[in-house]
Amino acid sequence: MNIIKATDYNDLSRKAANIISAQVIMKPDCVLGLATGSSPVGLYSCLVERYKQGDLDFSRVKSVNLDEYRGLTHDNSQSYYYFMNENLFKHINIIPENTHVPDGTEPDARKACEQHEQIIQSLGGIDLQLLGLGNNGHIGFNEPGTGFEELTHCVALTKSTIQANSRFFDKLEDVPTEAYTMGIKTIMRARKILIVVNGKGKADIVHKSFFGPVTTEVPASILQLHPDVTLVGDEEALSLCPL
Ligand code: GLP
Repeated sequence: MNIIKATDYNDLSRKAANIISAQVIMKPDCVLGLATGSSPVGLYSCLVERYKQGDLDFSRVKSVNLDEYRGLTHDNSQSYYYFMNENLFKHINIIPENTHVPDGTEPDARKACEQHEQIIQSLGGIDLQLLGLGNNGHIGFNEPGTGFEELTHCVALTKSTIQANSRFFDKLEDVPTEAYTMGIKTIMRARKILIVVNGKGKADIVHKSFFGPVTTEVPASILQLHPDVTLVGDEEALSLCPL
């Protein structure tokens, strides 16, 4: 695994944006796997800046997103569909039809998940998958205990994730209790993985994920077995790692 230490969040965002930019430049029709959460916000704005400067062209890029809350409509400001438009898609020249967020408005969970998995396959797989890291080691919404063999599926969110994500909602009860997420197997099939982590609060789980045993109790630990992973972390998040 390649570990890149950034001084702070801005530095982390620029370094991670460099990696995504390189992917888009080297393969203009690449398939990007995208993520939400607070960690990638800065890197998305770097990508927007570079697009505006004329250094990046997304016209042939396709994207698939990691996860989505079940039951939130597209115009709900907490849906990941809305997040992606606000933070990235509407500011760049990616073709909306080429962007694919799991369909949280589809009540039939099986249908929504199979459809997402089929889209990924029909695009020829993911070239570069961006990930954040949940406080309990989740990636996407694959909570501790999820089997490594899972493809895109519907999950019941743990109390700790609902609690963590409630900071984006008016009240705890507004946080959806279920989500559609790429499975660990879907994520592991990506040709390259880029994971971004910042802040002191993540130091312990970063250490457990990348220097501890590979276990379903820490879903991100499986990434140790992927052949092409780059972790970009700030000094605080990497503070417990023996680097
Ligand atoms: C959410 C998302 C994850 C994300 C994680 C970390 O639960 N489903 O994809 O990586 O939280 O979020 P943050 O980057 O805000 O810490």
